[in-house]
Amino acid sequence: MCGIFGCVLKNGNAAPIIHAALKRLEYRGYDSVGEATFYDGRLYIKKDQGKIDEVHKIHNLDDLPGNLGIGHTRWATHGAPLEVNAHPHVDCSSNIAVVHNGIIENFVELKLELENLGHVFKSKTDTEVIVHLIEENLKADPSSSLADAVLKTVRRLDGSYAIAVISTKQPDKILCARNESPLVIGINENAVYCASDIPAFLPLTNRAVIVEDGELVVLSREGFKISKIADSAVVVREPELIDWAPEMAVKEGYPYFMLKEIHEQPACLRNTLRLQDHYLDLMATFLDRAREVFLVACGSSYHACLAASYIFSKLAFLATYPVIGSEFVEQHGKSVNIESTILAVSQSGETADTLASVSGARERAATVLGLTNAIGSTLTRVSRVYIGQQSGPEIGVAATKTFTSQLSVLAQLALRLAKKRGKISQDEMDFIAEKFDKLPDTVETIIQTQEEKIKRIAKKYKDAKTFFFLGRGVSAATAYEGRLKLMEIAYVPSMAFPAGESKHGPISLVEHGFPVVFICPKDGTHRTLIGNIMEMKARGASIIAVIEEGDEEIKKLAEDYVEVPKGVPEVLSPIPFIVPLQLLAYYIAIERGHNPDTPRNLAKSVTVK
Ligand code: G6P
Repeated sequence: MCGIFGCVLKNGNAAPIIHAALKRLEYRGYDSVGEATFYDGRLYIKKDQGKIDEVHKIHNLDDLPGNLGIGHTRWATHGAPLEVNAHPHVDCSSNIAVVHNGIIENFVELKLELENLGHVFKSKTDTEVIVHLIEENLKADPSSSLADAVLKTVRRLDGSYAIAVISTKQPDKILCARNESPLVIGINENAVYCASDIPAFLPLTNRAVIVEDGELVVLSREGFKISKIADSAVVVREPELIDWAPEMAVKEGYPYFMLKEIHEQPACLRNTLRLQDHYLDLMATFLDRAREVFLVACGSSYHACLAASYIFSKLAFLATYPVIGSEFVEQHGKSVNIESTILAVSQSGETADTLASVSGARERAATVLGLTNAIGSTLTRVSRVYIGQQSGPEIGVAATKTFTSQLSVLAQLALRLAKKRGKISQDEMDFIAEKFDKLPDTVETIIQTQEEKIKRIAKKYKDAKTFFFLGRGVSAATAYEGRLKLMEIAYVPSMAFPAGESKHGPISLVEHGFPVVFICPKDGTHRTLIGNIMEMKARGASIIAVIEEGDEEIKKLAEDYVEVPKGVPEVLSPIPFIVPLQLLAYYIAIERGHNPDTPRNLAKSVTVK
């Protein structure tokens, strides 16, 4: 996730407006920043790594000349957060500049093609292919307009993008296009703006037009023109009046970041399905070679590892050891060795306990692999291979979208490994791959159809003193994560454990009305789980079940149930099944009057041991 912005002003300097807009988009990314403007037929650019304030202090982002320009605040996906990878990117002759939010899936092929045509690439980003492709299209047909060249370019792009392009070819225009990444236009008497999000221009205008997928927009002093990328058909769309307060706008109208981030999960999951094959294959190769594999993490990331240990075993027949970061050195510090592999999972890439495990492992010559949401973090620097999960910044302290994205990446790794090891038939592979592609929609359906029901359940149980969260198999990990969400943001003391353990102690706590949340995918554990539900019911527990749609058997046993669409394979089930539990925790926190974004005593990234 990155933020893009552009403006064409009738009067005045664009640079300070771009700078201020980028500040308002900083929540979308903040590892590097850049601006480009036009003045007197010349392109002016400033960009660097670092947060906007740091870069501004060194370079003064406000003194670029001209009344038209574009800007970008970055959250690295392809290429480390370095000056060279910061946007805007320019073509070989520095006549065209582009800013981009999204992921170009076919950039490797396009880059090769363009390099063969003599283009010289400066960055490691996927974005740079866009600007060279525009250059190539203009070269091939010098009489074509910038809009035509951009059109030809975006028609060749696979993946997601919101772009803004400026060029000496038509220095009075900004060209924008959108596919899957957000793009909005703002307009007032003096200017027209394009941005990733409404807050970028909200202090300047409340008249906005939402650009839809597959649309191209030309911005000029006269206003904006929208057309379809596919057939250039003209689109007429009137601006809407936005009545959000600025602090609401940053959350896209959601009252809290946590809810916004829960709702972003379908989009984040789509991004995880765009990872480069090369890195997944490389990591799968390291895992395949290892004599022993430790999955090391803290908090929600540890729960992702716990789920992954089931998934690696079930798909790839690989035994892995999930270990809590703060325990790794004590538990395995002496035995870990050159033949061991540590896959450290940390959305921030900075969690002290996880990094201490990594150091301990490196001292003993083990191989370190990383999965993180922060390219450029310490974890990426100390890992032999790392994968960026591409979730965009998560602001709510409780992990939501980063958790499901971690699960998606880990499951993809397990699938690769299974294929590499010949542990999975082509049919099974195709089946899971097909279900994987549908997962973002599945999660979307859950949010759309179950949220109201979950609100009612939250109201009903808001005063409960405690909860149990139970699941079997891979759903035990879902139970642990569901419990963590509730405990950390709603402050309800809760317990989670594999359902089979109830009878070894915890069941003694159960009395009439005790709420027990069961995670019930229709997998191999379903029958036994029903037995566990019966045990709880017999002691008066109130059963809240997360079930597969149409699971009549459990519907009859549960006081309340939430449904997840049918047909999700067992190994992928933690992804959709955790979503209702995130919402349940969120709404119970709201019912109890707590701010779910900033739970007391907790921090987003814990950098002390
Ligand atoms: C903190 C956060 C959790 C997170 C954990 C691990 O406790 O509050 O949400 O899961 O750290 O963070 P990491 O960045 O390593 O995934």
